[in-house]
Amino acid sequence: MKRVGFTLNGKTTTCDVEENELLLHTLRERLSIASVKEGCSIGECGTCTVLIDNEPCYACLTLTAKVEGRDVLTVEYLAHADLLHPLQESFISHGAVQCGFCTPAMLLVGYSLLLKHRQPTDEQIREAMSGNLCRCTGYVQIIEAIKDAAPVFIHSGS
Ligand code: FES
Ligand code: FES
Repeated sequence: MKRVGFTLNGKTTTCDVEENELLLHTLRERLSIASVKEGCSIGECGTCTVLIDNEPCYACLTLTAKVEGRDVLTVEYLAHADLLHPLQESFISHGAVQCGFCTPAMLLVGYSLLLKHRQPTDEQIREAMSGNLCRCTGYVQIIEAIKDAAPVFIHSGS
């Protein structure tokens, strides 16, 4: 076992993990973060996406040991108490949440994009989402939700 320390959703976290343990397993099984979904487990669907230092990464391909000292965000970071983040509100109002399986990852991808581009183009949104599959929405609602959240985007935690 190896002790790994990192920041998870703004809180200092330490965890004893196997040498080759994947972040997806650590988050779900050791830290009870069920929002990080296990889909394909081979880096194709994007449902396991988390942000590491604000960049989207597949937790199913990331060794937990590699996040030592880094900043990991999951969708739990976005809402505060009963208050949803404007991006989450926008997903709901645009019908961008259907079965919901891709939603935590899509929200994180959108959040990361809006940190870099406060008024992203459709092309930038499509590019940002290119590693994330959604079987339900046809992506249009998600694109509209991200675009409409841009004017009221607040960097959660700032
Ligand atoms: S579960 Fe990680 S990309 Fe599919
Ligand atoms: S809402 Fe069902 S997979 Fe995206």
